[in-house]
Amino acid sequence: MRQIILLIIIGMWAATSIAQNKVVAHADAAKTQISKHIYGHFAEHLGRVIYDGIYVGDDNTKIPNTDGVRNDVITALKDLNIPNLRWPGGCFADTYHWKEAIGPKGERIPIENLSWGNYREDNSFGTHEFLNLCELLGAEPYLAVNMNSGTVQEAVEWVQYVNHANGTSHLTDLREKNGRNKPWRVTYWGIGNESWDCGGHMTADYYVNLYKRYATAMTNYYNSEGLFRIAVGPGFPDYNWTETIMREIPDRRIEGLSIHHYAVNWEHRSSSYEFTDEEYFMIMEKAWFMEEFITKNDEVMNKYDPDKRVALIVDEWGGWYDPDPRGNGALYQQNTIRDAMIAGITLNIFNNHADRVRMANLAQTVNALQSVILTKDEKMILTPTYHVMEMYKVHQDAMLVPLEIKSKDFVQGDKKLQAVSVSASKDASGKMHISLTNIDNQTGQKVDISLNGFKAKNVSGRILTSQKVQDHNTFDNPAKVTPKKFDGAKIKGNSVMVNMPPISVVVLELAE
Ligand code: AHR
Repeated sequence: MRQIILLIIIGMWAATSIAQNKVVAHADAAKTQISKHIYGHFAEHLGRVIYDGIYVGDDNTKIPNTDGVRNDVITALKDLNIPNLRWPGGCFADTYHWKEAIGPKGERIPIENLSWGNYREDNSFGTHEFLNLCELLGAEPYLAVNMNSGTVQEAVEWVQYVNHANGTSHLTDLREKNGRNKPWRVTYWGIGNESWDCGGHMTADYYVNLYKRYATAMTNYYNSEGLFRIAVGPGFPDYNWTETIMREIPDRRIEGLSIHHYAVNWEHRSSSYEFTDEEYFMIMEKAWFMEEFITKNDEVMNKYDPDKRVALIVDEWGGWYDPDPRGNGALYQQNTIRDAMIAGITLNIFNNHADRVRMANLAQTVNALQSVILTKDEKMILTPTYHVMEMYKVHQDAMLVPLEIKSKDFVQGDKKLQAVSVSASKDASGKMHISLTNIDNQTGQKVDISLNGFKAKNVSGRILTSQKVQDHNTFDNPAKVTPKKFDGAKIKGNSVMVNMPPISVVVLELAE
C-alpha cells in the first residue's frame, strides 16, 4: 500500500514538474534568410583578449601558432564557421590610431591602453595582423573607426590603405612596402562606438552631423558601392537616438545601425560562477529584454525605412558579471550554463527578427565577458556559450521558418518570464532545424511542435545541459559541459514531441 501511495505521489510530482508548451512551425511560409553574420564575434584590445588570447607573437613562444596567432584558437573559431569579427573595439577603438600599428614591428609606436587599465601595448597586433587573421579564418573583418580622438582624414586614409587598388596613392604604396600587395577589401565599417558614452559623450544631433562627414568622406561617387557603413545606435532604451539617426541620415549614406545590449545588473554585479537563483532570474530578465529592445528599435526604423533596407546590427551583446581575478585580465569571467541560456534565447531572438537584424557580435571572443574560448598559457577550453554557437550554426544563411509560440512561464516570486524560446529554419538541402532553450532551472518542458508544410520522417538532435546552472568547464575538467546526443524528440503524425530537461538547449534536425 505504501508503495502504491509513493507511486501516486511520484506520478503527481512528474505531472506538475513537466510543463506543456505549444509551437506551430510554418515551413511553407519561409521567406526571410537568416544572415550568417548574426553569428559574428567581437575582439577588443582589452585584458587578455588579443595579446595572449589570440596573438602570442611569432618568436619566443611555445604555443603553436600561425603568424603569431594561436592555432588552437584558429581551429576552434573555424569550427564555428565564424562569419565576421569586429575589431579593435569597443571603447579602445575610440582612442585608436591605426597608423601607429603598421610597418616593421620594431618601429611601431607603443601606446597606453587608455580604456582598459592604462597598460602599455606594443602595437604588434595591428591592421595587417587583424586582416590576415580574418582571411585565415574565412571571416569578414568589421573595422570600428575612431570618431572620438581620431579625425575624418585618418578614417578616409584607413579605407584607402586597406581597400584601394595598388598604385592609387602613397597609402597603397605604403601597404605594398609593408608586405601586402593586394587590397583586403573590407566591407563593414563602424563609424564610431558608443558615441553617447566612451566614444565622446555626444548628443544624437551632434553625432548625426559628424557621422555624415565621415560617411561621405570615407566613400565617394566612384567607390562607395560595397562599403557597409554602420552608425552608432543606442545602448539603452533611448529610442530618440534611433529616431534622430533614421530621420537625419540620407538613405544613401547608411547601411546599418548598431545597438548594444548586455545581460548585466549594473547595480549589483555578482560572480560569474557563484550566484543565487535570484541573480540567475535577474540575468534572464535582462537577456529577454533583447526582444523588446529590438522590437522597439525596429518600430522606429520602420517609420523611415519600411522596406528594411538599413540593417539592425547588435554589435555587442552577452552576459557581464564581476571579473574573475583568476583569469588575470580585465573583464575576464567564467562561463556557465547560465551563459548558454543567454546565448540560446538571444540567438533565437535574432533569428526570429532576421528581417531587420542582419549582423551581431558576441562580446567577446576570448578571455573577456561572454567568451566562447578561455585560455591559460598553452591550454584552451571551449565554454558552454561556444557549444551553443556551434549547435546553432545550422541556422547560418538558412531560411527562417515563422513560428507561433505558446510557452509556459518561468516564475520567481511575483515575476515571470517566457520559459521556452524557439527558432527554426530550413537549409539549402531542405532539412529543418529547430533550436529550443528552456531557461527554467526547476522544471522540464514538454514542447509540442506542429509542422505546417513539412512532412518530417526523421528527427535527430543534440542537447547541452548540466545538473546546476553554475556548472562550467575548467582547465582541469574541460568537458564537463558539452553537447550530447538527444533522444527526447519523437515524431507523432504531423508533430514533433520534445521533452526538455531544466536548463537545456536542444537543436533538432528534421528530414522529410
Ligand atoms: O565590451 C566591453 C565594452 O562594452 C566595450 O568596449 C564598449 O563598447 C562597451 O561599453
